[in-house]
Amino acid sequence: MSNTSAVFGEDVRADAKQIIGRYPESRSALLPMLHLVQSVQGHVSTEGIEFCAEQLDLSTAEVSAVATFYTMYKRKPCGQHLVSVCTNTLCAALGGDSIYRTLSEHLGVGHDETAGTPGEEGSLTLEHAECLAACDLGPVLQVNYEYYDNQTPEKALELVKALQRGEKPAPTRGAPLSDFRGAERQLAGFFDRPGGSYEDTVDGPSAAEETLRGARIANERGWTAPAMPDDAELPPLPEKK
Ligand code: FES
Repeated sequence: MSNTSAVFGEDVRADAKQIIGRYPESRSALLPMLHLVQSVQGHVSTEGIEFCAEQLDLSTAEVSAVATFYTMYKRKPCGQHLVSVCTNTLCAALGGDSIYRTLSEHLGVGHDETAGTPGEEGSLTLEHAECLAACDLGPVLQVNYEYYDNQTPEKALELVKALQRGEKPAPTRGAPLSDFRGAERQLAGFFDRPGGSYEDTVDGPSAAEETLRGARIANERGWTAPAMPDDAELPPLPEKK
């Protein structure tokens, strides 16, 4: 077994302890622990898997099974920023495919590949993303999981060039842009950088006008959905073949 203390020092161990203390069972802390590992290394390395296993009294196989199941856990070092382009049906039809192609050609990389040296300023990892739950604002992309709505290939290219220059253009809504490791620290439940507080790091207007409009019109007109009866008969399940 490798020496995880060479990578994960006392401060990270103290953070891990804090995460574990949030849960009645230590194993429940695995997901934020993996985000903590990514905030240190920019991916989930072999040492990261060993560190989680040691801290949570799990086997490395159990940690590995989780780390390889979810796409938010990266097995290769990520760039300073992670650019996720939605290429699911609706965004693809509205131009997501051409946004992805434009960025891929500009950066000279494909899915889950990094342009530049991972972790260094201006390095970018590109990925296809499944529906990012912002179809009413499509085509969308995210940088470190912050939204850039209503994109075009030109706008997305401009954004990526700015990121490569070390700039951090403001997302369309939500929190200010951090970097991949900073976002991972927030996902681990720590809001101590770069702004110093929850409000500075993650708070921001997250709902868009397009998303709220339907609910507001329904409210003004007194429209409500019919209540679901308690004894509603559900259609039979098709027989498994
Ligand atoms: S299809 Fe892109 S956000 Fe839903």
